[in-house]
Amino acid sequence: MITGCTKQKPSVVTIDVAKNGIEVPKGLWGIFYEEINRAGDGGLWPEMIYNMGFEEKNIPPTSYIENGEVVAPKKPSYLFGRISNFIFYGFSPTNVTEGWTLENKGNSKSGMEVVSDNPLNKANPHSLFLKIDANDGSVNLINEGFKGISLVKGEKYDFQFYLRADKSYKGKVVASLVGNTGSAVYSQEYDVNNSGTWTNYKSVITSNVTDNAVKLVLQFKSTGKVWIDYVSLLPETTFKGHGLRQDIAQTLADLKPSFIRWPGGCVVEGFTMENRVNWKESIGDRMSRPGQFDLWGYHNTYNFGYHDYLQFCEDIGAAGMFVVNAGLSCSVRNGDYYEMDQMKGIVQDILDAIEYAIGDVNTKWGAERAKNGHPAPFPLKYIEIGNENFGPKYGERYNMIYAACKAKFPQITYINNNGLSNNLPEYFDADKIEMIDPHYYVAPETFFNTVHLYDTVPRSNYKVYIGEYAVNSNVGSGTLEGALAESAFMFGIEHNSDLVKIASYAPLLENVNWRHWPTNLIRFKNDSVFGRSSYYVQKMFNENRPDVTLQSALDLSTTVETISGKVGFTANSMGSNSNISVKDFTVSKGSSAKYSSQFPADTVKWEKTGSWKIIENAYSTGIPVDVVRTGGLYIPGNIRGSENQSRFKMGGGTLTLEDMVFDDCTISANLKRDSSFNGFSIRFGIADDKNYFTLSINNPRMRRPGMPPGLFGNQDMNQPVKYTASVEHVVNGTTLRLGNIGSSFDLNIGTWHSIMVSVSGKMISCTIDGVNFGELEYKGLQKQYAVAGYDNANREVIVKVVNGENTPFSTEINLTNVAKVEPVGQIITLTSASNKDDNSFAEPKKVAPVTSEFNGFSNSFKMEFRPSSFTILRIKASK
Ligand code: AHR
Repeated sequence: MITGCTKQKPSVVTIDVAKNGIEVPKGLWGIFYEEINRAGDGGLWPEMIYNMGFEEKNIPPTSYIENGEVVAPKKPSYLFGRISNFIFYGFSPTNVTEGWTLENKGNSKSGMEVVSDNPLNKANPHSLFLKIDANDGSVNLINEGFKGISLVKGEKYDFQFYLRADKSYKGKVVASLVGNTGSAVYSQEYDVNNSGTWTNYKSVITSNVTDNAVKLVLQFKSTGKVWIDYVSLLPETTFKGHGLRQDIAQTLADLKPSFIRWPGGCVVEGFTMENRVNWKESIGDRMSRPGQFDLWGYHNTYNFGYHDYLQFCEDIGAAGMFVVNAGLSCSVRNGDYYEMDQMKGIVQDILDAIEYAIGDVNTKWGAERAKNGHPAPFPLKYIEIGNENFGPKYGERYNMIYAACKAKFPQITYINNNGLSNNLPEYFDADKIEMIDPHYYVAPETFFNTVHLYDTVPRSNYKVYIGEYAVNSNVGSGTLEGALAESAFMFGIEHNSDLVKIASYAPLLENVNWRHWPTNLIRFKNDSVFGRSSYYVQKMFNENRPDVTLQSALDLSTTVETISGKVGFTANSMGSNSNISVKDFTVSKGSSAKYSSQFPADTVKWEKTGSWKIIENAYSTGIPVDVVRTGGLYIPGNIRGSENQSRFKMGGGTLTLEDMVFDDCTISANLKRDSSFNGFSIRFGIADDKNYFTLSINNPRMRRPGMPPGLFGNQDMNQPVKYTASVEHVVNGTTLRLGNIGSSFDLNIGTWHSIMVSVSGKMISCTIDGVNFGELEYKGLQKQYAVAGYDNANREVIVKVVNGENTPFSTEINLTNVAKVEPVGQIITLTSASNKDDNSFAEPKKVAPVTSEFNGFSNSFKMEFRPSSFTILRIKASK
């Protein structure tokens, strides 16, 4: 148990206005777009007809259906060396008419089938075949869009469809948009060409209602055979006239992002290599774009393609960041890859993509861009090579791609997709790295504890792009609580922006009816959109980005906590479970022993998880238990490969001394690793199973660099490995690493090691096998931070303060070395009644910043910050 705030020191923030820190890059904050959560079709791309081309259930070329599920050819993952057996859980590949229903009125008799003979277009081979045997007035084919078609009164819409009918069909077709009340908003009768050729039927519709529950009804008036394809309904008013849905595009534009990452994310890698995003198929005539099975479980039509994306970048003044496949598919899905001698095509494809974006119109792909309506180059600035690919195979392919692209297009910045190295050089076998891309999906506590992460990262090697980050845990994500934690992490980014040059929150968009990822920045449905709490944090940072940082301390918390609670042991598990034995366990204070084990005749009570048994004079774990993992890593619902399942079986078992609470004490025991490559932990200060401290002895290779805990690298059981000790603080189930202690050491199976942990006030020290591993100071979980900077054009000091606690926070703010401070300035505050609050369709601005004028700034002033708040002070001050 943490006894909490035993002392409170007065807080003072001193900002030296004359002392510039680092330059904050203008392009620091960007956005990450991926086709996930149906971000594109029915979203940013405003198509209103669901399964418009009957391609919704296409699967990747080499994949097949087994027991009703999509599986890939059984190839070992390039990273793990074993077959994943990855399955798309919840994707029903046989429901090919999804989105369409057939209504037989009266005694009508008809059936529908998705077929691929005589296609309208080879790229999109499927069409819907209707066989109408009896028609009692009408046979109706109905599409309800993406959970309702939404029309706005007075707005114009372009409607079209293709029909092929043979001689047997001798009637008309009526297309109607039927509103919420059941009456037609629009209706048009078409004569049908029954010569057996595909014919395009189109109209411009002006809506006379505002209704978000409209459906399309195609009414067939005859018996006979007809084929239908490419049914489309698009608004005429779009963002800057370039086709995108006005409200969603504007919500993105309002963030004023400096760059847009596209197309992802995992979709870059693909379920299999054939399934990677293919930019060349995403440009030009929309009807000829084949689209792609989207590995989040639906069809991506490529309606929002490479050219459309580059156009959007230009329209909102953002730079382009195109992420390219590195010859490797997603390691945790199938993980198949191209051999080095197959890489030529991949490299050429990337060179062509860059040429398409920025090449002269006299080049092959520059000319293609001009043909598609844009002779001038697009603002492509970054190329990221791969997404979340790791290991030596990535290094080789990265080197090849980097060398070819840098030689031809040196003006582009190339990003290596690795995260921070954790000092494992095998992950960095690259010849030259300009930037790396760590990703963070974590709990709020982790971000509050990670503010200083980049303070000590060496500056000499490469720059950092934090390409994906968000609070993504069961508790706190998407609410004000999560947003405040993200703001604390962003303090650390701004403060270290000489190194962390660019960052993008992820993912960006979520159609609330198709959520594939738990937490996303912006939510929408067919007729409306809103930014979540985190959206406003992103916006506030970008709108209040200083030109330079000013020297001041980041940490504001003034509480000092003490450590006290129960003690015990854990057999560690990080993907695989270890078995351990414990003996000679004592807890002492000064020279007096408070507890001393006497296995096997121990009389005290133990709390246990797992199957601990007394064997001779020691306690040993048996078979590990499965526990549901919460926080930290989100496991997408559609990962269900057998390997993946077993990988997330956690917990080798815990053993806790019941009914005994210790504060300052020394814990000593002999411990032995009996199996697996994992180690063990001594736990202390245990309040409950979600709140405690540990001295954790682990195999460092169990964690892949830059990845959230839970994903791990390719392991060789027989390979000798050195173990390391770290002190961790587990808060509400989230592990916060306080630091490594000592140097690495051998932990051989079957060898007893004597471990001693001492707690004295805030100091935690450790001795292993008689070697003193040193000590570490516990500073408490800080949730209050400040960062300061200067806006040259407006001559303003910008102070950002986050108060992540549920109580007000007061501090004194001193501006030193300043010529003049104006009393009148601005305070921008993001807060709400509860940190569990978030925005919704009903209350889209429940958690949104409020700007007020403040008349009271001076060289030294006091300020109280509201509970759970993110506040920005803009103070007019001349240097
Ligand atoms: O943002 C969602 C996913 O998270 C991305 O596709 C992937 O890069 C990461 O694992």
